[in-house]
Amino acid sequence: MQNFVVSARKYRPLQFEDVVGQSTITETLEHAISSNHLAQALLFCGPRGVGKTTCARILARKINEENGAEGGEDQDFAFNIFELDAASNNSVDDIRNLIDQVRFAPQVGKYKVYIIDEVHMLSTQAFNAFLKTLEEPPAHAIFILATTEKHKIIPTILSRCQIYDFKRISIQDIQSHLAKIAKEENISYEEDALHLIALKADGALRDALSTFDRMVTFTSGNLTLEKVAENLNVLDYEYYFRITDAALKNQIPELLLEFNGILNKGFDAHIFINGLGGHFRDLLVAKIPQTVDLLEVGEKTKLKYLDQAQHCDVKFLTDAIEICNTTDIQYKSSKNQRLTVEIALMQIGSLTAVGNSADKKKSLG
Ligand SMILES: Nc1ncnc2c1ncn2[C@@H]1O[C@H](COP(=O)(O)OP(=O)(O)O)[C@@H](O)[C@H]1O
Ligand SMILES: [Mg+2]
Repeated sequence: MQNFVVSARKYRPLQFEDVVGQSTITETLEHAISSNHLAQALLFCGPRGVGKTTCARILARKINEENGAEGGEDQDFAFNIFELDAASNNSVDDIRNLIDQVRFAPQVGKYKVYIIDEVHMLSTQAFNAFLKTLEEPPAHAIFILATTEKHKIIPTILSRCQIYDFKRISIQDIQSHLAKIAKEENISYEEDALHLIALKADGALRDALSTFDRMVTFTSGNLTLEKVAENLNVLDYEYYFRITDAALKNQIPELLLEFNGILNKGFDAHIFINGLGGHFRDLLVAKIPQTVDLLEVGEKTKLKYLDQAQHCDVKFLTDAIEICNTTDIQYKSSKNQRLTVEIALMQIGSLTAVGNSADKKKSLG
């Protein structure tokens, strides 16, 4: 039986061109290498799973490749790459070991590259021991420090490093990356299912890839929006479309029953009301030609938004957004949270009712 390799490892980019969504950084690094302007100490900052370690390895391989070393993917040794995970090796002894190695020039290639991951986890003592080496590194040593918490890096280290800020990856970029992998792996998918996975990953490509693997197993290789939404415990857009339809028709009982069904499925009422607010916001941007691009949904879902938006007027949408927003603020302090959300639904369901128009209000008040 063939061993299963998780996608995050199988699809770790080996070239700068294959790194998704960090082109400013990869271009700068390429340029620094080709023009011989690479600093000896680099600091890679940014959230988890966006390509810091990946870029560190590509860089390490590249500078030694250009200097005669050879080897394939997993031959880090051949490229003089040394990795230290400071999260688990943060003592002063760990750093001393490393400093001892740094002194010796590489046997092949020109550089020794030290990648220190989660560098903010080093103990103060370890930091101080390291500082000296960082100040006067031997010509063959390059340090790449990576951290998710830049604010924890002491200024003396910051000032000695060239700093690269890695960004979260956009939903669109994650989605197309997943689509590429799905095609390669012969997995059938709906774009909207991939969109949902991308949405959930919150900018971290690694998280998206592991969710993707999980969903492939769960759906036996057929990623439908329905299945993925169910498993990720994300409310399918369908609920919001139905609720909006009912609200436009002033069907209060249907609204309450729909909400009851959502609660029975184990969804959280607070997440629901915020999601509904987001839905009205999306309808509003879909309604106005200049803002349609702000709609971050899959293609099929986009058509649905454009369609439903035609049935809503702007006043209905802005009022509904306002109601959701107020409910969101009141939710935490409410003693009866279910009722708080139900009141919101009743209000939204009454917005377009005859007799609730602005004229009527004026004549009353
Ligand atoms: N920008 C990216 N482009 C392509 N793949 C990525 C990117 N960021 C993360 N990955 C995927 O996630 C995995 C983990 O990324 P990694 O570079 O270790 O993240 P970090 O060090 O920022 O936490 C990689 O093996 C790769 O499959
Ligand atoms: Mg890393």
